[in-house]
Amino acid sequence: MKCRICGREAQPFMSFGRMPIANGFVTPGQFKDEYFFELAPVFCEGCSGFQILEQPAAQLMFHENYAFFSRTSRRMAAHFADFARWLRGRVEGAGASDPFVVELGSNDGIMLEHFAKAGIRHLGVEPSANVAAEARRHGVDCVTEFFTPALAGRIAAERGRADAISAANVMCHIPDLHDIARAADRLLGPRGILVFEEPYLGDMIAKTSYDQIYDEHVYVFSALSVSNLFERHGFELIDALPQSTHGGSMRYVLARKGAHAKAPAVAEVVARERAQGLHLPETYAGFRRNCERSKEQLLKLLRDLKAQGRRVAGYGATSKSTTVINYCGIDPSLIEFISDTTPIKQGKFTPGAHIPVKPYEAFCAQPPDYALLFAWNHSQEIFDKEKDFSDNGGKWIVYVPDVSVIG
Ligand code: SAH
Ligand code: TMP
Ligand code: ZN
Repeated sequence: MKCRICGREAQPFMSFGRMPIANGFVTPGQFKDEYFFELAPVFCEGCSGFQILEQPAAQLMFHENYAFFSRTSRRMAAHFADFARWLRGRVEGAGASDPFVVELGSNDGIMLEHFAKAGIRHLGVEPSANVAAEARRHGVDCVTEFFTPALAGRIAAERGRADAISAANVMCHIPDLHDIARAADRLLGPRGILVFEEPYLGDMIAKTSYDQIYDEHVYVFSALSVSNLFERHGFELIDALPQSTHGGSMRYVLARKGAHAKAPAVAEVVARERAQGLHLPETYAGFRRNCERSKEQLLKLLRDLKAQGRRVAGYGATSKSTTVINYCGIDPSLIEFISDTTPIKQGKFTPGAHIPVKPYEAFCAQPPDYALLFAWNHSQEIFDKEKDFSDNGGKWIVYVPDVSVIG
């Protein structure tokens, strides 16, 4: 393939095999029409970019039945309250008197509702109609569209230039980031900032959390790759702030070249990335070996438990779990069901492997002997909530950073 960022020829360093749409929960009537593609990660030596070879069309993933609602996690709600406070401080600190903040992928309004409540001018750009409708119920102003240069031009003409464009867990979804950079250029004021936070490549490599790789995540970013991309469009990275969310994320702050001072964190993060070898192909060969070992160990554990007659259920039908389940070949004979609190997933079957998804009440009614923690990025919140499960002898299976049993 040609690298989407720098155009250099780059090849996959491994394949996770045939994959369905990560959030494509299905009913039995839909089994025969399920969409599959090959999930293969690529590292580009030209720009240190990490991406996947093939991404299904956006309309197959983001639509009126999009299954991911940001509000399902209380910890994420608290995180976005902090994020909103931080962003407001940053924008007001830069001297904006009547700030205007635009968020891409605003989902159910988990972040922008704080701007709405404070009476600050804002706009969400959210193509999935069902989650956007939920945001409106929380007082958030949003348009049901994909972010494009044309839309950016329209917003700027109708509402003026933005002081900040913010995005969380969505930049990594968008294949044509050159288009996004051009759109940001149209919409941002001269001292405006572009802020986004996404799962971090450094954490993924360190923890072998390969489940960050799935259809929606066409990229996994590093400060190195983000700088390389946006410098082509007149922007520079002015700050980089590590976050604990989603198993390890990074918040990138960008601005027009020379518009703001660069925080020392930028050079520090880049130096750490070089020390970790994020710019070197051999790092990804090592990552591949770690993925293969993780798969073997998880399968062996599940097969052993089955042979011992133990009941195993999954906890959290996460988008990430689609990669683990289909790469490892986990089927309903190894996992009875997966419990999930999201109504739209319940009563359906997981993409590809067709493991039943049941409401949380099913987990409480018939607690398994072992719970496989697919929502491992929410482990603290979940362990706190599930004290009874552990106190009654229930055990947890985790696979990040290593396959292990807790309890
Ligand atoms: N920001 C939220 C939601 C992340 S999920 C959070 O961090 O929890 C990603 C969201 O981005 C989805 O709601 C999806 O519909 C939306 N999205 C996908 N492509 C987009 C695009 N090109 N422009 C704007 N939003 C997009
Ligand atoms: P995420 O990892 O993409 O944030 O998705 C988390 C999924 O896990 C979502 O479908 C909701 C589900 N979940 C539960 O079922 N119980 C919980 O306690 C939490 C935190 C999440
Ligand atoms: Zn490249």
